[in-house]
Amino acid sequence: MHNSSYWLNYFNQNLKNQRIDWSISPDLTQSEKTNILKSLQAWQLGETSEGINLVNAATKHAKKLNDPYYTDAIRLFIKEEQKHGNNLGRYIDLIGEQRIKKDWGDSLFRKIRGLNTDMEFWTIAVITVESTAQIFYQCLKDATNCKLLKQISTDILIDEAAHITFQIERLSLIYKNKPLFMRTVSYYFYTIFYFSTAMVVWFAHKRLFNAGGVYFKVYWIKMKLKFKKTIKKLKPEIENINVENTLSHLL
Ligand SMILES: [Fe+2]
Ligand SMILES: [Fe+2]
Repeated sequence: MHNSSYWLNYFNQNLKNQRIDWSISPDLTQSEKTNILKSLQAWQLGETSEGINLVNAATKHAKKLNDPYYTDAIRLFIKEEQKHGNNLGRYIDLIGEQRIKKDWGDSLFRKIRGLNTDMEFWTIAVITVESTAQIFYQCLKDATNCKLLKQISTDILIDEAAHITFQIERLSLIYKNKPLFMRTVSYYFYTIFYFSTAMVVWFAHKRLFNAGGVYFKVYWIKMKLKFKKTIKKLKPEIENINVENTLSHLL
């Protein structure tokens, strides 16, 4: 596990990387545009969150752990998400479309986040959404031949991989500090939250996923694999309760 000053340094360095050549003009066919536009607008809005609740949760959490760097690392993490939002917004402007101000998925997710001031909940929510984001941005990259959009997507994909590591390290720290019984309950909760959110994201952005060559079966396999590499790694202590089997009947 990396400490917060490592992450602070990582985000500071990464923000300096300019991986997009904005002198390239966007190049989309009408049908490519139809496939991607709604999802592009929705994710643009989602990436623009101000993160006040997250900063508050992080401050509370960092105080408890006596960690002077964590909140600043979270601030830079939010800044990186806003960079994604700005880049996607700039692209939407360039193709002559409108940025949106409201989206049901975004409103729903904001509501859920707003209700909770707890770092654990934030972390599981971010890991889940970013796992879907990795598939989403790969599909956005593959759905068109636009060089500029491919560069924007690649830049986001590079950032998101580190975001997941950053968040899963945090979740595992929080999880390990819980009593055994609470770990079992939390693990159930994480799993249900992860897969139900994955389902919601699929239905909301099915068209874009399909345009990127990812059909439901493939999407689900990818989401399960990401689960295995992240949240499932927390599981070892609860071997005697077969969460896996119980859930595989449900899913
Ligand atoms: Fe992002
Ligand atoms: Fe992210």
